[in-house]
Amino acid sequence: MTKVIDGNAVAEQIRSELEGSVETLADAGSRPGLATVLMSEDPASETYVSMKQRDCDEVGIEGIHVEIDADAPAQELYDTVEDLNADEDVHGILVQMPVPDHVDQRTVLRTVAPEKDVDGFHPENVGRLVAGDARFKPCTPHGVQKLLEHADVETDGAEAVVVGRSMIVGKPMANLLVQKEPLGNATTTVCHSHTGDLAAHTREADIVVAAAGVPEMIDGSMLKEGATVVDVGVNRVDVSERRSEGSQTESDEADTEKGYELVGDVDFESAKETAGAITPVPGGVGPMTRAMLLYNTVKAAGQQEGVDVDLP
Ligand code: GUN
Repeated sequence: MTKVIDGNAVAEQIRSELEGSVETLADAGSRPGLATVLMSEDPASETYVSMKQRDCDEVGIEGIHVEIDADAPAQELYDTVEDLNADEDVHGILVQMPVPDHVDQRTVLRTVAPEKDVDGFHPENVGRLVAGDARFKPCTPHGVQKLLEHADVETDGAEAVVVGRSMIVGKPMANLLVQKEPLGNATTTVCHSHTGDLAAHTREADIVVAAAGVPEMIDGSMLKEGATVVDVGVNRVDVSERRSEGSQTESDEADTEKGYELVGDVDFESAKETAGAITPVPGGVGPMTRAMLLYNTVKAAGQQEGVDVDLP
């Protein structure tokens, strides 16, 4: 039987443990604060940020949300980040990516104070991660590690293939899997859009992390029997297109209202036939990314306030 890894359940467990850490901080007289900054009119980004704010409320983190007009000068974003750097009530800062084309993403990432960089995207934090001395592990790959841990998947000595080389997922994921530490020690290959024969790599893998942003690019024929498959993809696919391809899902009714359906980078139905364990979309990695943002925010607050907090 293929195990379907329930990201909602693991995320809920982490959130409830974090509530205890928030109480420890409250006893010491402080409340963790997370600032989210959105400079985009992309509906998906708007949804992600509002979900992150709702999560904050749920565990007792003070959520601050700043919206900047997508046409505003780039300097307005840099200045906003500087103000948040100086705000003692703000322990974590997240600038939702992508930013508009006229904004220099690298400048944004370097402007966030490394101590408040709960995404782990500042070059100082990227360097620390690679060096095996992470201050903040980026939320999605950290969430993937936690899922593997909860599903009792052995990474030590495993062949791992990461598909995708983004700053947000692929590169930090590979760096975590290769570290000489628990939930690492995997022989790790990174595949990407210029890889010649992707299936030749994925078929050798005990663990496949799909993070390329291409709907259903990995199917069962590309997997080794019993492999663990972690699907990071969140692709919005037009419902009418899917219908014309003859695909139907249980969430059809709700999807019709929204006009799109969420699919991963993995063709779940065929992959499930070959995989030993697999994460669904939605309900797999997505909730874990959000939970690990709360984790990093609580960690940041503990560090900045000089309070020892237990983390899940
Ligand atoms: N856009 C998509 N994923 C992320 C993320 O993890 N952090 C930020 N800041 N932006 C994103």
